[in-house]
Amino acid sequence: MLGSRYFALLAAIGLFAQIPDKFENLEIYPKDISRRQLVGAMRNIAGALGVGCKHCHVGESVMTLDNYDFASDEKETKKTAREMMRMVNELNDGFFKERQSSISCDTCHHGVKQPRSLINVMMDTISDKGIEAGIAEYRDLHASLYGSDSYDFRAATLSNVARRLANQQKQEEAFQLHQLNLEMYPNDALSLFNVGSHLLVSEKDMSVAHPYFLKAVAHDSLTAANSLNRLAYYLSSLDRTGEGLHILKLLTVLVPDYANGFDSYGEFLAKEGRIVESIAAYERALQIDSSLISASEALLKLKSVKEP
Ligand code: HEC
Ligand code: HEC
Repeated sequence: MLGSRYFALLAAIGLFAQIPDKFENLEIYPKDISRRQLVGAMRNIAGALGVGCKHCHVGESVMTLDNYDFASDEKETKKTAREMMRMVNELNDGFFKERQSSISCDTCHHGVKQPRSLINVMMDTISDKGIEAGIAEYRDLHASLYGSDSYDFRAATLSNVARRLANQQKQEEAFQLHQLNLEMYPNDALSLFNVGSHLLVSEKDMSVAHPYFLKAVAHDSLTAANSLNRLAYYLSSLDRTGEGLHILKLLTVLVPDYANGFDSYGEFLAKEGRIVESIAAYERALQIDSSLISASEALLKLKSVKEP
């Protein structure tokens, strides 16, 4: 990270010599703080925010500290930093006083200037500048910060952003994020399912979706099963019950110990008037899970229809 390399360099070539001995504008630190202590504190702060001294202090060069006016309060970031210092001190002298731990800039900042979740960072960029900018930002951040504790790059993050976009009826954008997630995590069951589901819903072509569903089930059968089950109902709500039925049949074959799948399959078969098969499906659901009330109730009704 910039911070540590930067300081190693500064220390090595003695640039800290550019820092004065006497300080003129301290409101937070004691006026008689030693140069070593002050510089140590500044290093910690810069490291916590992932920035160099120039982020808060007026000066020309990033690499040398020549002609810096450290006492100046010209930069907003310095003023904000002072308020943050006050906040941290108040919390440590108050709330955290009797507790085991205390807080520091790093507690929130984790190496970034403005501590925010990756979900919020992406949502803001996408709504301000569009999906391409959001994807580019994700790639940049992933390239520079993956493995640090600045952001959570697990698969759930992009899935979450995609879900929020889908809720805003931005299905195409959501699709692009699921694909990006698959590029990063080729075996993520939820993304596999979502890509397949999008292809099925938009292109109405089961064969392009199938391989994604198969792979999703192979990697996480419960997640995939719950998702496929929901997809069937969604298709039915679009008047595409036939495709929903197909999905449920697939589900009962791929995940044969998933009671809900047989329960839903029974319901869809009954809708199509295929009563005998429907009864068999419900019975299978109850064999797997005898406490499945929806299945036992449906079965009672079907049997009374069949044998009045
Ligand atoms: C995030 C903002 C921030 C960064 C980054 C930062 N500083 Fe500071 N610096 C401050 C603040 C705020 C003060 C004033 C503290 C106070 O009021 O007690 C300060 C004060 C100082 C002072 C005392 C100036 C004076 O005469 O009053 C020096 C010297 C200094 N910083 C050096 C550095 C160096 C060297 C770096 C890089 C290693 C650095 N700072 C990085 C915010 C920052
Ligand atoms: C409790 C969490 C928390 C702690 C602890 C914390 N910060 Fe912050 N800081 C934030 C948040 C949240 C923001 C973004 C605020 C905003 O968007 O206006 C922020 C913003 C800043 C900014 C402005 C960044 C910009 O680019 O505008 C500076 C500078 C800063 N913090 C410095 C510090 C320093 C120095 C410390 C330690 C003394 C510190 N912060 C400790 C939560 C924290």
